[in-house]
Amino acid sequence: MATDSVVVAGAGQAGFDTAAALRSRGFRGRITLIGDEPDGPGRRPPLSKGYLAGTVLTEEIALRPPSFYTEQDIELMAGHRVASIDRERRTVRLESGLRLPYGTLVLATGCRPRTLPVPGASLAGVLTLRDLADAEDLRLRLTGPARRIVVVGAGFIGLEVAATARRLGHEVTVVEAQPRALARASTPAMSERVVAEHRAAGVRVLLSREVTALYGDDSGRVRVMELDGGERIAAELVVVGIGVVPRAELALAVDLTVGDGIVVDERLRTDDPDIYALGDCARFPSPHAGRHIRLESVQNATDQARCVAATICGEPTPYTAVPWFWSEQYALRLQMAGLTAEHDETVTVGDVEGGRFSVFCFRDGRLVGVESLNRPADHAITRRLLAAGTDLSPGTVRQPGFDLKTFTRPPSSVRSHAPAQEKQTAPV
Ligand code: NAI
Repeated sequence: MATDSVVVAGAGQAGFDTAAALRSRGFRGRITLIGDEPDGPGRRPPLSKGYLAGTVLTEEIALRPPSFYTEQDIELMAGHRVASIDRERRTVRLESGLRLPYGTLVLATGCRPRTLPVPGASLAGVLTLRDLADAEDLRLRLTGPARRIVVVGAGFIGLEVAATARRLGHEVTVVEAQPRALARASTPAMSERVVAEHRAAGVRVLLSREVTALYGDDSGRVRVMELDGGERIAAELVVVGIGVVPRAELALAVDLTVGDGIVVDERLRTDDPDIYALGDCARFPSPHAGRHIRLESVQNATDQARCVAATICGEPTPYTAVPWFWSEQYALRLQMAGLTAEHDETVTVGDVEGGRFSVFCFRDGRLVGVESLNRPADHAITRRLLAAGTDLSPGTVRQPGFDLKTFTRPPSSVRSHAPAQEKQTAPV
């Protein structure tokens, strides 16, 4: 059993899970978990939903109480940032000047939100949402009197914030540059249904529109947003959710391969065998996509952490888990299994108008992913099918009376070549 020292840079979900998984595997060496967020490792999913609505409290955000770190002998350095790596001496230097030696270094530095590249983007009242401090700030502003809020970006952050703000009684406009919402991760059928729900709730959703400028009042607070074509709309609060950028500077500075994320192999090792990268910041070879990809989800962080911990403990474990994630907006529960963006054919099953349906996504006739709206059983079954391998064809799904439950066991010919099924965590 390895007794070397592990330094984890980044104390989000991926960093936390790496430290915890090392200990639960019996790793006896020193573990130092360094993160620049002052509050320590916390759950991000509620930050754009229940936390803003006030149904999830600050004390429910922490992934573990402080006593966990003492009990597990994990040295948590919250509020500290790693400034540089010295690969020859195998040390990291913190911004405070402190140097720490490592046997193995794990980069779990996550992403930072993209900022709006327009004049006025730094006015007061223009916010992004990533960490607890951002969410606290936004929550305070949402608990006041009704405001005119403009959300930029109809991705997951934008739509979840829009739904919450609308429910709290604010007047909400969403401005999206693409012709449809959730274009990065969802099929057009899902985008349409989700936007319809927002519109029915009274949210103004503007598609294929660009923000060109923001204007403030004398005190420097945002008041007006200008769109392409010169239209001006009132904006007392602007929430920008236009995607994230991987935090790869540390890796780049020491000549590790970087390209939209820190590039790693199937065991999540960088070019340097003593340095791993995982979670939102890592670009890894996906057996499901057949190429390197980067995923931004809790599942990815957690399952990659288990693999890295196993590999460090002497059991080399390639990362093969089926990707999945979910979103909640109003009464809509959107769940995705696999890589739906890879599809060239879809078959929709269920009641689209009624908001209970699943879109089966195929590539070259092979199932690559399924997105479900308020059909949790479809999600659970298809996750298992995708993990075990399946020969479910578009023709079969199209057949009248198609019943997914009869496919809960994959055919033996497929099963024998399938990767081991990963144990998955429940959504938080
Ligand atoms: P995103 O990539 O999901 O969506 C960004 C959206 O902004 C896209 O629709 C894009 O077309 C649009 N956009 C880009 N530039 C724009 C511009 N200049 N003007 C207008 N629209 C523009 O990223 P998002 O929503 O910022 O989320 C950040 C991260 O947090 C992602 O990794 C996301 O997956 C994650 N997240 C996940 C959630 C979940 O799993 N339920 C919930 C909230 C966030």
